[in-house]
Amino acid sequence: MNQRIAVVTGANGGLGESMCIAMCQQGHRVVGGFLPTDEAGAHEWQRRMKSEGYEIALYPLDVTDYDHCCSFISTVEQELGPIDILINNAGITRDAPLKRMLPQQWQAVLRTNLDSMYNMCQPVFEAMCSRGFGRIVNISSLNGEQGQFGQANYSAAKAGIYGFTKAIAKEGASKGVTVNAVSPGFIDTPMVRQIPENVLNAIIAGVPVGRLGQPEEISRAVAFLTAEDAGYITGTNISVNGGAYMS
Ligand code: CAA
Repeated sequence: MNQRIAVVTGANGGLGESMCIAMCQQGHRVVGGFLPTDEAGAHEWQRRMKSEGYEIALYPLDVTDYDHCCSFISTVEQELGPIDILINNAGITRDAPLKRMLPQQWQAVLRTNLDSMYNMCQPVFEAMCSRGFGRIVNISSLNGEQGQFGQANYSAAKAGIYGFTKAIAKEGASKGVTVNAVSPGFIDTPMVRQIPENVLNAIIAGVPVGRLGQPEEISRAVAFLTAEDAGYITGTNISVNGGAYMS
């Protein structure tokens, strides 16, 4: 098994943790990016991961800032080596019906969930292509596929990920670089637990599998797409949503 350097953005979040564990289990050297304003929490998380047997190198990373992403990537490459696997997982919600959605809510979600894709992929892409290997997985969402009440910002950003993914998949295809999306449905994470209880119960009632997903059910798809022998899968999306949206 080749040991690759795998970067996970939003590493210490609900899905990020599970992706870091999956990458460790694949034998990779795992690098997590964490929100710079949460340094203490991130390092506490890193210690917990270590106590569970998962060694994660951790660096501050503001995915909304292109220059910051460039310096994160060059630090990782200088200290650890070339990045072969990139999992763009960091994301936020700022839910409100459109009539009450403030410009700041729109901009924060677009910058974190969509600009971040460019900010992280652009600085690693050329080097992946010239080395002849790369695996990029962009985390979209069920709500980018179906649209969601109260999420015009989030649904727009997550839908934008599909176009971005397909475009750069074409650019990387002949160079050994695959680019795919994974679209989680409603997964048992702190983000989903913030949804008002009555709204969440109605959502779960509409999921054919009849429950929230588990983070491991998402990282399983990520591990599949980042495998050495997944080189013929590119420009696609894997929806992991309990049947909530069937395309
Ligand atoms: N479909 C249709 N109508 C809806 C609705 C829905 N899903 N949800 C609410 N409404 C209606 C309500 O019935 C209500 O109607 P009336 O005015 O006629 O009574 C009206 O919209 C206002 O609803 P609220 O009182 O709930 O309005 P609010 O301002 O208090 O809250 C909201 C609005 C913040 C959007 C809230 O409804 C909410 O949090 N919804 C959940 C949004 C959601 O699904 N977020 C997903 C987060 S997890 C995630 O994003 C991860 C992922 O990738 C899947």
